Amino acid sequence: MDGHHRQSTPEPTIVGWAQHLRANATVLDIAAGAGRHALWLAARGHRVTAIDRDTTALRQATLAEPASANVCIVQADLENAPWPLPEELFDAVVVVNYLWRDLLPTLFASVAPGGHLLYETFAVGNERYGRPRNPDFLLRANELQDVTPPEFDVLEFAQGEVGDPPCAVRQRLLAQRTS
Ligand SMILES: C[S@@+](CC[C@H](N)C(=O)[O-])C[C@H]1O[C@@H](n2cnc3c(N)ncnc32)[C@H](O)[C@@H]1O
Repeated sequence: MDGHHRQSTPEPTIVGWAQHLRANATVLDIAAGAGRHALWLAARGHRVTAIDRDTTALRQATLAEPASANVCIVQADLENAPWPLPEELFDAVVVVNYLWRDLLPTLFASVAPGGHLLYETFAVGNERYGRPRNPDFLLRANELQDVTPPEFDVLEFAQGEVGDPPCAVRQRLLAQRTS
């Protein structure tokens, strides 16, 4: 999925969910874009690994940031190459505005016991409002809940139109690994 718009403020849900993170948590930011979540989390003392296929914007954004010492940038194609971090576990895995279904099991498997998966992206129905419209990049109804493995507790799940007036259809999941 391509990201053409570059936002700089973190999603409010990620800001809210960050309260669940322990101090100095290790966080994996998937398809991190220009790093709006990676840098926000790093500035709060978390140690972030930020992956993207194109790390140009991420490198540029971290240049001026005092917190950039907390960000490890990994350039990797998540759809056409082997998983770049085999065996590595994180206190949290964060995914915003990105969907590649084949990757979902790997994302859950990368969460350490006690850790969290924070996932938020567009869902079916979004095509009424704008991009993405391709069903490959739109979550199906309940999809994130349905793919959550049994060793996770679903702490929060929501889906539906967002904005007033509505401007997108999104789905989000906060899940914690119990074992
Ligand atoms: C819409 S942006 C979201 C960026 C960030 N998560 C955010 O919320 O600001 C989608 C990101 O996915 C990245 N991406 C797309 N295909 C990818 C792939 N095959 N491997 C790694 N990253 C990819 C793009 O480079 C882009 O930065």
